[in-house]
Amino acid sequence: MIGSAQPARRREEEVSDFAACVVRGLSKARKSLPCRFLYDARGSELFEEITALPEYYPTRCEFEILTDRAEEISSGHDSVAALVEFGSGSCRKTEILIERLRALSLYIPIDISRDALRQAKTRLESRFPQLRVSPIVADFTRPALLPEEITRAVKLGFFPGSTIGNFTPAQAAALLAMMRRLLSPQGALIIGVDLKKDSKLLTRAYDDAEGVTAAFNLNLLARINRELDGSFDLRGFRHEAVYDCAKGCIEMRLVSMKDQTAMAAGRRFHFVADERIHTESSYKYTIPEFRRIAALAGWKAGRVWKDMAGCFSLHELVA
Ligand SMILES: C[S@@+](CC[C@H](N)C(=O)[O-])C[C@H]1O[C@@H](n2cnc3c(N)ncnc32)[C@H](O)[C@@H]1O
Repeated sequence: MIGSAQPARRREEEVSDFAACVVRGLSKARKSLPCRFLYDARGSELFEEITALPEYYPTRCEFEILTDRAEEISSGHDSVAALVEFGSGSCRKTEILIERLRALSLYIPIDISRDALRQAKTRLESRFPQLRVSPIVADFTRPALLPEEITRAVKLGFFPGSTIGNFTPAQAAALLAMMRRLLSPQGALIIGVDLKKDSKLLTRAYDDAEGVTAAFNLNLLARINRELDGSFDLRGFRHEAVYDCAKGCIEMRLVSMKDQTAMAAGRRFHFVADERIHTESSYKYTIPEFRRIAALAGWKAGRVWKDMAGCFSLHELVA
């Protein structure tokens, strides 16, 4: 797996990046932690559980689009030799595309979660023995290095799960511009984008009755305890998901239920009662709003598909 050539050194770098981000985020007046750290091995497992919850419509709706419109979506991409996926997770949605991309010889999933990539690689190699699967463990917001051999190959990017919603509109435009450069000259991107909708439906999706999303969010503190000698009392924090209508954004937070202190990475942090740590944003867009962001990033809008209920959209962008 690319990114695991010197696993011990890489692991050290990952832990020191995590420590630096935690110290920076918890030292701010409005505390926050970057959402990419939600996905350690346990976080990735919990995310998979979330995708099966009745309240979590995005995965079901995106699967519906990909399954029902598979032929249409893959048509026009017959010459794609390399598929590059950003934040690939379990790679289950990708299988639908892989099955139909006739000229595909290489699949490059990029994810921060080493464990998710390892499991997906094993499954995909057994299901598609002709396909070379070359995962990259990396933060996809940092310019990735794709293998030189595919510089001139026709590339298709895949960015499902509405992970683009984790970025502010300005950050999303910058990230999409970087992806366009990576996939050019003849590249295209298929990207899943959650649509604006009723706020009750939205908040339920991020605060389910079984408490799986709460466990996913709280796992970030458990991860700090495990990896950074943290002393967070998990019973002293609760999960919160709030929809900000003006911003079109769900904000996930961890709320301190009392005055307390906790250690992390050798530093002590104080929390007053009701103080919040922002852990994830999920921006929602209308189709024209998202197309404007893609245009700012230099993409030309291609086709767009929605599920039957009109909850989720899948956009084709052309470089
Ligand atoms: C919302 S999940 C989507 C997973 C999958 N693509 C899907 O559609 O079900 C986000 C995925 O992106 C990964 N991820 C989040 N932030 C990342 C980053 N900055 N760099 C690389 N991977 C990231 C997570 O590990 C996780 O697998």
